[in-house]
Amino acid sequence: MTVIAIDGTFASGKGTLARRLSVHYELPHLDTGKLYRAAAKIVLDNAGNFDDIEACTKAARDVKADCLDDPVLKSGPVGAAASKIAVHPEVREALLDFQREFAAGGAVMDGRDIGTVICPDADVKLFIDAKPEERAARRHAELTGYGEKITFETVLEQLKERDHRDAYRAEAPLKIATDAHLIDTTNLSIERAFVAAVKVIDAVLAVKTAKH
Ligand code: C5P
Repeated sequence: MTVIAIDGTFASGKGTLARRLSVHYELPHLDTGKLYRAAAKIVLDNAGNFDDIEACTKAARDVKADCLDDPVLKSGPVGAAASKIAVHPEVREALLDFQREFAAGGAVMDGRDIGTVICPDADVKLFIDAKPEERAARRHAELTGYGEKITFETVLEQLKERDHRDAYRAEAPLKIATDAHLIDTTNLSIERAFVAAVKVIDAVLAVKTAKH
């Protein structure tokens, strides 16, 4: 069962890459950010507080597979709320089984802690990153495409805040697994990032197959 772990920064292109890789390798794909977004949405809908660990943990336990297709999960405010709920170890614990069960049959998993915490034995680990200004430009284009009215400067500021929260939280912070392969997409098109990723994955899988 092949597991491909794709971690990386916000708007680095990891989601698009993960979807393409899942088609290419015929593996199911889980965007684990959606779990945190869905939990955060439940708290927002209940007018809850992100410092209320009990309410946040209950929301995480209430996340089910059919919550994950709601288009509102993609919005900027829900994403920012997701990074607030994600700091609580109890919330992360509540979402662990869902992710491990999904990965058990082989999968492409994308998130922040897949290679480090969720699937430390993944067959291949990629870490996707790009310069903040490039990521902010991509995210700005995406949000204005959805009709959100927001300036590039605000998107950049929010992105830096989110990077900081994800990298410095005590529990499962965003970091590069020691055995992950870094792909910087700053100057890569989606297609070139995909080609670069397939090259790395095929090389790693070939070595594994040769060993067995
Ligand atoms: O990837 P996405 O932007 O949808 O993730 C939203 C937030 O959820 C991230 O900023 C991060 O705080 C959190 N997250 C996480 N661990 C994951 C996936 C997402 O902490 N595996």
